[in-house]
Amino acid sequence: MASREETAAMKRALRLARYGKGNTFPNPMVGAVILDSGGNPAGDGFHRKCGAPHAEVVALASAGEDAREGTLVVTLEPCCHMGRTGPCTEEIIKSGIGRVVVAMEDPDPRMRGKGIQQLRDAGIDVETGVLSGEARELNRVYIHFQETSRSWVTLKMAMSLDGRIATPDGGSRWISCQDSRRLVHRKRGTVQAVMTGAGTVREDDPELTVRLVDTPPGGHPVRLVVTSSGDFGDSKKIFQGRTRVIVAAPEGLSERLSQLTERANVEIWEFPPDDRGRISLESLLKRTAEEGLGHIMVEAGSVLSTDLLRSKLVNSVCIFTAPKILGDGGRPAFGDLNISCMEEVSELKDVSCMSSGIDFLVEGEVVYRSD
Ligand SMILES: NC(=O)c1ccc[n+]([C@@H]2O[C@H](COP(=O)([O-])OP(=O)(O)OC[C@H]3O[C@@H](n4cnc5c(N)ncnc54)[C@H](OP(=O)(O)O)[C@@H]3O)[C@@H](O)[C@H]2O)c1
Repeated sequence: MASREETAAMKRALRLARYGKGNTFPNPMVGAVILDSGGNPAGDGFHRKCGAPHAEVVALASAGEDAREGTLVVTLEPCCHMGRTGPCTEEIIKSGIGRVVVAMEDPDPRMRGKGIQQLRDAGIDVETGVLSGEARELNRVYIHFQETSRSWVTLKMAMSLDGRIATPDGGSRWISCQDSRRLVHRKRGTVQAVMTGAGTVREDDPELTVRLVDTPPGGHPVRLVVTSSGDFGDSKKIFQGRTRVIVAAPEGLSERLSQLTERANVEIWEFPPDDRGRISLESLLKRTAEEGLGHIMVEAGSVLSTDLLRSKLVNSVCIFTAPKILGDGGRPAFGDLNISCMEEVSELKDVSCMSSGIDFLVEGEVVYRSD
């Protein structure tokens, strides 16, 4: 069992790991703390960004000789394979550490307990599962990527009390209050991409950049637009500026999109069309993950949001409900989700509810009913 000092060190390691948020993907966020042989803190570290030294190596370096016979407390199983950096298990064994406390196994197929086994084979005492729930929550984007090869999708929406996202003329500015909009901008700053559909681009001409709050140190998130027609009306704002824009479209639209490709910040990703001329959103989310866009926030209208939910590709939601009633003519948040009875309704887990100015914000992870 982990001692009180080790559990406290794990809490600290989890806090440290969060400093890497937004910069480590496709690697996980990892934090590590070294306790000396007397159980006193002797060093710590975290994985700053993909390609940078791993948390264990940073922590061992900061502890120096104090690591000998000490304990390494780390939020994820140390790696045992050669990646952009060398295997951490070798460094740990070389350091003379006597005990390793790990929160969770690494779901990377190259690992899955092999790192832990290597440490045990070298005579190191290894304890696992300490604060594993918190560690899984910390790395949910990474775990999802390891399990599905896809980006994590958060669906954000602002709706009225009667579940409408726009008035009959397509107006949605502003359903939510200023505080909620500021919160959305802050959330944009924590994801790698903001995704929308051509319908929203035509109707709203959105910028989808981070404003209302400080620009994140890593810059604005990538803007990702899905279209089957290549028709963006007169909208321009989303393509302006230097922030990268990805237009995901079916093959064969190159001519229609040629004006856009003249812009240095815009790139077109083509996918084979299905029989409705649409692209596979699953393929798109695999490509975004390959490109290092681990967490995507969707800010779209009903068509794209419904498509994503029906395809079970939404991982979490962030829904603002405003004290407004738009009535029957207002545009509903979602179309047909193929649900005919309560048993088929998807639910949320780990739900949080809070006020946001005069709105109400519900967030949670989607649990799909299996087919
Ligand atoms: N309140 C809110 O939170 C909120 C947020 C965003 C938007 N809105 C409102 O929503 C309305 C627009 O709704 P909408 O449903 O038309 O917009 P949307 O869902 O943003 O965009 C729909 C379009 O996305 C493209 N698309 C979706 N799935 C695709 C796929 N699998 N493959 C290829 N293309 C795909 C299609 O583009 P093509 O047209 O090119 O075929 C489709 O017509 C506006 O009134 C806007 O103000 C409200």
